[in-house]
Amino acid sequence: MDRTLRQILNPETVSLDEMWRTYHENSKTERFHRPPSEAQVRARMAELKPSLDYSGYPKIVLPAPDPLAMPLGEAMLARKTCRDMEACTITLDQLSTLLFASYGETRSNVGTEFPRPFRTVPSGGALYPLEIYFHTARVEGLEAGLYHYNPQRHCVAELSRGDLSHRLSGALVQADMPLKSAIQVFVTGMFERSSFKYAERSYRFVLLEAGHLMQNLALAATALGLGQTCVGGYFDREIDDILGLDGVRRSTVYIGLLGRESARPLL
Ligand SMILES: Cc1cc2nc3c(=O)[nH]c(=O)nc-3n(C[C@H](O)[C@H](O)[C@H](O)COP(=O)(O)O)c2cc1C
Repeated sequence: MDRTLRQILNPETVSLDEMWRTYHENSKTERFHRPPSEAQVRARMAELKPSLDYSGYPKIVLPAPDPLAMPLGEAMLARKTCRDMEACTITLDQLSTLLFASYGETRSNVGTEFPRPFRTVPSGGALYPLEIYFHTARVEGLEAGLYHYNPQRHCVAELSRGDLSHRLSGALVQADMPLKSAIQVFVTGMFERSSFKYAERSYRFVLLEAGHLMQNLALAATALGLGQTCVGGYFDREIDDILGLDGVRRSTVYIGLLGRESARPLL
């Protein structure tokens, strides 16, 4: 697709202001909205998997995540966007801690009204519409390749083998970033997991939740002494193609890069 929706509609009659106002107004909560009942939500969620299982793909069980050694207040003060990153080797223990902090399962939902075990992030309706993919050629004990994280089993599925760094470079606005990072984390939305309940508002919820996830990832990376950068500048369709997402029902909403602050001074 080489045109935006606004161009397709008719740039003469549909202004950008009108388009975003339409979305913003339509995604407001109204008193007349009738969300599905708890039973309906449970029934729909029973049809949807809590996490994509990628059955048939090789699985690597992660070690138990380590508690973060840095106090939260310190990590909040130390967190910053790493402007001069270099790829370093990341251990499987560090990867485990990073993924668990981002979206790991923390407590049971048994005896609650909610349809899923809870995670490290808040989630509208506890529906957990996000999935984490990542690419790396730099984690000890993992082949270079594309992976998916399963929070229920705290394992990763190897989706494809091979170093995709150069392909990923072409899909980021700042093309050097994938080559300078050790792991590229893709936060993706499975929109239907939220939209069946929250309709237009679900898009807000998916993005809000992605922000929670990314902040956890950023703080955990900081606590582990790693550099991190949050990235919104990527060519959505190209990243979705690499991940095998259709870009409509499932799409990438955020990217996080992890590496090490370069020892070289910035010129
Ligand atoms: C939604 C979002 C998107 C961002 N996208 C990019 C990006 O594409 N490239 C980049 O270098 N930094 C990106 N950043 C990082 C910001 O530039 C950075 O957070 C900001 O300059 C504040 O600096 P700090 O994170 O060190 O406090 C993004 C941050 C956010 C919250």
